Amino acid sequence: MSIRRLPSHLVDRIAAGEVVERPASALKELVENALDAGAAHVAVRLSAGGLDLVEVTDDGAGMNPAEMSLALERHATSKLPDEAIEAVASFGFRGEALPSIASVSRFTLDSRPRGADGWRITLDHGVRVGEGPAALPPGTRVRVDELFAKVPARRKFLRSPRAEYAACLDAVRRLAMSRPDVGFTLEHDGRRTLSVQPATLPARVAALLDPELERAGLPIDLQRGDLALGGVVSLPTFNRGAADHQYLFVNGRPVKDRLLVGALRAAYSDVLARDRHPIAALFLRLPLGEVDVNVHPAKTEVRFRDPQAVRGLIVGGLRQALGEAGHRSQPAAQVQWTSDLTPHDRHPGELHRHPGEGRDLSESSHQAYLRPELPALAGTTALHESRTLFTAAPAARAEPAHAPVPTHPLGVARGQVAATYIVAEAADGLILVDQHAAHERLVLERLKRGAGNGGVPRQTLLLPEVVELDEPDCDRLEEAATDLAGFGLEVERFGPTAMLVRASPAPLGTPDLKRLLADLADEIAELGGPQALKERLDLVAATFACHHSVRAGRILSVAEMNALLREMEVTPLSGQCNHGRPTWVKLAHGDIEKLFGRK
Ligand SMILES: Nc1ncnc2c1ncn2[C@@H]1O[C@H](COP(=O)(O)OP(=O)(O)OP(=O)(O)O)[C@@H](O)[C@H]1O
Ligand SMILES: [Mg+2]
Repeated sequence: MSIRRLPSHLVDRIAAGEVVERPASALKELVENALDAGAAHVAVRLSAGGLDLVEVTDDGAGMNPAEMSLALERHATSKLPDEAIEAVASFGFRGEALPSIASVSRFTLDSRPRGADGWRITLDHGVRVGEGPAALPPGTRVRVDELFAKVPARRKFLRSPRAEYAACLDAVRRLAMSRPDVGFTLEHDGRRTLSVQPATLPARVAALLDPELERAGLPIDLQRGDLALGGVVSLPTFNRGAADHQYLFVNGRPVKDRLLVGALRAAYSDVLARDRHPIAALFLRLPLGEVDVNVHPAKTEVRFRDPQAVRGLIVGGLRQALGEAGHRSQPAAQVQWTSDLTPHDRHPGELHRHPGEGRDLSESSHQAYLRPELPALAGTTALHESRTLFTAAPAARAEPAHAPVPTHPLGVARGQVAATYIVAEAADGLILVDQHAAHERLVLERLKRGAGNGGVPRQTLLLPEVVELDEPDCDRLEEAATDLAGFGLEVERFGPTAMLVRASPAPLGTPDLKRLLADLADEIAELGGPQALKERLDLVAATFACHHSVRAGRILSVAEMNALLREMEVTPLSGQCNHGRPTWVKLAHGDIEKLFGRK
């Protein structure tokens, strides 16, 4: 066996495998370099999702020809202060990005410092093939053509130009969020797809994620010891079907960390259903010694010295902010209500257990109040409002009291309370039905049946509706259009960032199409493409069913109430809605007797 030193072009290639996984990772490195060079504006051009071309132009400090040569050598960096990685404040510090990218592409580096002339160096897969004067404004332009064209092993793992573009857009978004003081433009296949001017942080986050955040966002700004947390999160009522709009920045660096997902879930746990997710861009500042940024070749992961403290700061801080915003939960509302009826020496929960259901009334109703679809009740006023609702007269009177004792398992409707609950009398007790939860389950089962039997009936819109969405979201919906048609939703592409809806599923009535499409796109993204969509039709049906027609708060006629009860009796799984909450509870005669001390 002979041990030999690898030639430098091979070393670069090996390193490239770590740093440059796909066009988006090359793009990220180049934009980071531009920001490190003090750019005030960064312009990105892409072709075919970056597979054909990635070009980044900045108006930063620029390099002279000698610096350019050095920049293309491995482990050459201007950034590492006194050899202490912990103290690094710039994005880059490894001196690997440029030579790595240059070793797997055709690479053109143009640069011009202020007050000097421009210079160009061209490389072909790591080999220098030309250099000479170049005309450009002060700053730097890096052009990467045909990334991985000669690295078939890597090329094979790349996804479609659309998927690569989606990843590139995400990379630019992250960096643009981390530097709201810098302007960014992004052009894909000759079309301008993103353009942001210097702005405040909340305005920048809203511009990049959702303009609605300007109204429905909650600014975060708090300090605990030497940890600080800033940024924007969405109010609970403004949520998404996937956890994909959650960004974490550690000391200004965009990172991907599971910790954030869990912390957000915990912070919102009592104000948001489990399958809904907040939007968040959180900026964490902590002393450099508290975090190691050198654990991942692309620096997208970090290691915290004390992850629990970080998690605690996020959960505690957000809970506090949500509480101050008036969207904190009011679990007391239900306890209060039951104790009005319950003798004081008994625990309210023990009386209301639904057989086999292990959950009590106070818990299920509590959750119903916090459902995102009920914004009016989700605030601090929940206690007050629920009490007024419950003391209002019954909304409907169903049957005269001498009607024959019902034989249906879920009984006969006797009335509606708070425009939300149906009260029914069964042979052996009193039934309370959460009409919203129940209807959601019925719609879901109808959709599943319909999709299994060759199609859900569709309702053609008189005027097709145009829905504007992100380009990647439109791509996902377009790819899934055939499957969605099976659910009665007819969509087609209408320009790069819009979909045209021609028909919607009849069982849904008139849904909010923008929200429905956005949720479906999220669902498809999470499932990982149309193939998976076919296998997980039940999940998609559940997303549809969330956009059902009978909301809490709607007054139902007696006939409607009884029809709902009868359909529940014959529908599988109708005992719980698709969020796992019970749809009905029973107060058996024995329970009622106990309430009045008769037993
Ligand atoms: N757009 C640019 N403007 C000015 N100088 C640049 C630019 N891009 C790169 N450089 C110079 O080239 C050097 C090498 O860049 P490269 O990205 O390879 O390494 P790095 O940024 O130092 O570290 P890392 O590998 O962690 O990104 C940088 O240290 C910087 O001095
Ligand atoms: Mg760099």
